[in-house]
Amino acid sequence: MKKFLIMAATLLVAVSCGAKKESKTLVLYYSQGGTTKVVAEAIQQALGADIEEILPVDPYDPDFNATISRGQKEMNEGKFPELEPIKANVKDYDVIFVGYPVWFGTYANPIETLLTTVDFSGKEVVPFCTFGSGGLDTSSKAIAAKLPNATVLPGYGVRAARIDAVPAEVDRFLKEGGFLAGEYVKPAEFPAPHAVSEDESALFDAAVGTYPMIRAKATEVAERDVEGGKEYLFTASEGRGNIQVLVLVEDGKDPVFTQVLR
Ligand SMILES: Cc1cc2nc3c(=O)[nH]c(=O)nc-3n(C[C@H](O)[C@H](O)[C@H](O)COP(=O)(O)O)c2cc1C
Repeated sequence: MKKFLIMAATLLVAVSCGAKKESKTLVLYYSQGGTTKVVAEAIQQALGADIEEILPVDPYDPDFNATISRGQKEMNEGKFPELEPIKANVKDYDVIFVGYPVWFGTYANPIETLLTTVDFSGKEVVPFCTFGSGGLDTSSKAIAAKLPNATVLPGYGVRAARIDAVPAEVDRFLKEGGFLAGEYVKPAEFPAPHAVSEDESALFDAAVGTYPMIRAKATEVAERDVEGGKEYLFTASEGRGNIQVLVLVEDGKDPVFTQVLR
């Protein structure tokens, strides 16, 4: 009984009132290596939406380092790749899910071309992305800044290393956004953070492991109950500044970080 009361106090069970009526939905995505494609197809299948892959006329080399140098050069020069013509007429849709891998902390270069050549005025745009460590927050803000005449809604992002979590997370994300009918459990807001204990600091280190892009020490944390476990929002010091890292501990499983916020 006590457990039930605690759960009822910390979790709010929300029943969505049905999917957005009559909206016509398109999933437009770029995926160099196939990871973002998994998310795009999960969204497309859940919603029965139309889907189209964005293809650069001159595809990127599958070699990671070659893509890093080409991508960096394009960004430095402000010259982004030409795309194969998009078959779908974006004007015909109300909601457009725009998917991409995170590159250099923001959306991948082909998306820059998409956003500058296609008119998204008056549309609802929902970003989704995959990444090594994070970039949903930074790339979503960049899309909103690029598309002042569209409504950019909260998006979904997942680490490539957690691709197996996609079916369950996409289902919850679509229900939470009102795109899909059905019940979902909405977690309470994070409470105010407190200074980390030794155990919490060890939990952070275990979640981040040897990930090369995060060399930070946890300083503060807030935690909340989520479906099937606990979620922690750590603030960590990198030396040159602070980052925030979301860590998930599912019941009976080891801690994993789900995304870095900068
Ligand atoms: C050029 C390039 C830059 C990248 N930059 C970042 C980055 O800044 N942050 C990050 O978390 N991951 C970064 N990644 C990793 C990709 O976001 C990640 O592997 C993604 O899941 C790839 O998706 P895809 O298979 O759909 O192409 C980068 C990858 C490449 C190729």
